[in-house]
Amino acid sequence: MVALPELIVALDVPSLPALRTLLQKLPSAINWYKIGLELFAAEGPRALAELHSQGKKIFLDLKLHDIPHTVERAVAAAAQHGIGLLTLHAAGGRAMLLSAARAAQAMGPSAPKLIAVTTLTSLKETDLIELGISRPLKDQAIALGKLSLDCGLDGLVASAWEVEDLRRRFGAAPLLVTPGIRPAGSALGDQKRVATPSLAVRAGANFLVVGRPILDAADPRVAAAAILDEIRAAIARP
Ligand code: C5P
Repeated sequence: MVALPELIVALDVPSLPALRTLLQKLPSAINWYKIGLELFAAEGPRALAELHSQGKKIFLDLKLHDIPHTVERAVAAAAQHGIGLLTLHAAGGRAMLLSAARAAQAMGPSAPKLIAVTTLTSLKETDLIELGISRPLKDQAIALGKLSLDCGLDGLVASAWEVEDLRRRFGAAPLLVTPGIRPAGSALGDQKRVATPSLAVRAGANFLVVGRPILDAADPRVAAAAILDEIRAAIARP
């Protein structure tokens, strides 16, 4: 679907008016936007329609995790909105992942690409132990990544620190979607495993998800343009 790495701006705003204000401040060259739980819970498909009206592509980050029947129907319903990428929790298990893949297949080429979240970046190994998972976090992420791709999902969410490993292991096909991007010198916020845009591109990411370094910048247009430039430069000089 994508030849070159793309910037996705995370629209972590609470409402449609805030979304419109933000979009006006960003360069028209940005093709992709992420809508997450906050904005979708507040505005639902209206937020998607707003992006469509501006000709933008959508990453709907709903992290679906439910019984297979429910997830199959949710994927089919979400796909009706013409989205490009949709997330699910790999921990929903094989039957859930297969049902999701079946729903997408039934849509044909207009279906969203399904992207699995393996282990939330907010979890530490001690949290996994509390959940009854004793293998190291990295092994857990690889195992759930393999399960997701075996079930027919299109890609994985992974920090730039894991992208190189995942590429080596799973090859060129999976779409790797990488949050935790921080241009040199910007604040980390609550992100721990961060990387610059150029590092993420060189590691093999297909999509770079960026929120606060753009949203909280004094001039979001300038911040976004600088990241686009850095991505282009990294592509030109691999
Ligand atoms: O503001 P920041 O650049 O950290 O935002 C990153 C975006 O990516 C947020 O919307 C966050 O919810 C999302 N995300 C993440 N880590 C994941 C999955 C999604 O940071 N593992």
